[in-house]
Amino acid sequence: MHVTAITMEDTSFPYRLGTECAEETVARLGARAASRYLVVCDTTVAALYGRDLAARLEKDAGPAVLLTHPAGEVHKRIGTVGDLAEQALAEGADRRSVVVALGGGITGNIAGLLASLLFRGITLVHVPTTVVAMLDSVLSLKQAVNASFGKNLVGTFYQPAEVLADTAMLRTLPARELRSGMGEVVKNALAIRPSMIERLSAELRPDARYEDAAMRWIIEESVAAKAQVTGADKHERRDGLVLEYGHTTGHAIEHAARGEVAHGAGVAIGMIVAAEVSRLLGHASGDLVGLHRELVAKAGLEGSVPALVDPADVKNWLTYDNKRGYLPCPPASTPMVLLSAPGQVLRSGPLPLVPVPLELLGRAVDALAAPAGQTAAEQAAGADRLSPAPA
Ligand SMILES: NC(=O)c1ccc[n+]([C@@H]2O[C@H](COP(=O)([O-])OP(=O)(O)OC[C@H]3O[C@@H](n4cnc5c(N)ncnc54)[C@H](O)[C@@H]3O)[C@@H](O)[C@H]2O)c1
Repeated sequence: MHVTAITMEDTSFPYRLGTECAEETVARLGARAASRYLVVCDTTVAALYGRDLAARLEKDAGPAVLLTHPAGEVHKRIGTVGDLAEQALAEGADRRSVVVALGGGITGNIAGLLASLLFRGITLVHVPTTVVAMLDSVLSLKQAVNASFGKNLVGTFYQPAEVLADTAMLRTLPARELRSGMGEVVKNALAIRPSMIERLSAELRPDARYEDAAMRWIIEESVAAKAQVTGADKHERRDGLVLEYGHTTGHAIEHAARGEVAHGAGVAIGMIVAAEVSRLLGHASGDLVGLHRELVAKAGLEGSVPALVDPADVKNWLTYDNKRGYLPCPPASTPMVLLSAPGQVLRSGPLPLVPVPLELLGRAVDALAAPAGQTAAEQAAGADRLSPAPA
C-alpha cells in the first residue's frame, strides 16, 4: 500500500492506499495487538466485506467481533452509537480494543464517535469502502451523528490511528455512490487543486466505470487537496471552509429532495450555482461556469436542479446554511465559498467566504431549475441570459 502522512496541526496519521490488499490490511491491524477488534459496519457492507474481514482477523490477528448497524442516514444517530457501545461491552471490549470502521461515511462517523466514547477513547482505524469515505470523511477529525434538529449536530473531534483504503472494495459500489464521490472530486479540483483538472477531465467517466489505476490517482490527488487546506486547520473553521464549495446550495437541494439526490450530486449542482453567482457578481467569467458544467457532465452528474425538487423549497433551506455565524453578513445574505477562477477563492479577511444576497442566489437557483419539458441545453441557455452585475 502506498502511504501518505496526513498532518493536521499537532495531529498526524498514515493513510495507506492500494488495490487488493486484504492481507496487508489484516497484517497492519494485527500489528496493533488489540485485545479485541470491533469491526463496525452497516448490514450491506457486513455481507460484502465485514464477515470476511472479521474472520481473517480472528484467524491471523486476534479476537474479532462484527458490530452491525442498519444502513442509511436516518440511522446515523446517537441511539445507534449507544446500541453499538452496549454490544461492544457485552462482547468483552476493553481499553485495548480497536474499533475498525469498515464502510462509508455514515459508518465512519458512527464508529468514530463510538471509539471516542468507549473508555473515553480507544484506537480507531478507518477502512473506508466508498469514494466519499476514502477521500473525504476519513480525512476529517469530525465525528458526528444527526439529531432531529439537523445533520451532524451531535459529535466531537477524534483522530484515527491509521487509514487503510483498498480500491478493490469500490468495485461493488453502486454507480450512484461512485458519481456522488466524483462530485466531491470535481470540487477538490476546482476549488483547491486546479493542477488536477486536465487529467481529471480525461479520467472522469459518465458511466462511473473506473480502472483501479485511475481511481488510485483520483483518490491520491483528492487526499492531497484536502490535506492542503486542513494542514493548518484541523477543525475546518478557517482555510478548511473551502471544502464547503458547492455545499450551500448542495445541502439545500439534498434537504429539499428528501434523500432522492445524493450528497455529491447536490454539491455538483451547488458548484454550478456558485459559479453563476460569482459571474453575476462580476467576479468570474462565463468560461468558469462552462468548466464547471463540463466536469460535472463528465462525472455523469446532473447540471441542473432536478424536476423532483421545488426551487422554492431549495431557497427556503438556503436560509438555514450551516456556515452562518462564521462571517458577519448583511441582512438577507448568506456566506458562500466563491471562486474567481479555478483555485482562486474569494476571501473576507482570513476566511474563504463572502456574503451573497439571498435574492441573487435565489435567481441563480431559479435559472438552473428545469421548467417541465425543458432540456439541459435549454436550461444552460436560460442561465446564460442572466446578466452579470456591472463591474
Ligand atoms: N467530515 C466528515 O466526517 C464527513 C465528510 C464527508 C461525509 N460525511 C458523512 O458521510 C456520510 C455519507 O457517506 P457515504 O457517501 O460514504 O454514504 P454511506 O456510508 O451511506 O454509504 C453509501 C451506501 O453504499 C453502501 N456501501 C458502502 N460501501 C460499499 C461497497 N464497497 N460496495 C457496495 N455498497 C457499499 C452502504 O451500505 C450505503 O448504502 C454522510 O452522513 C456525511 O455526513 C462526513
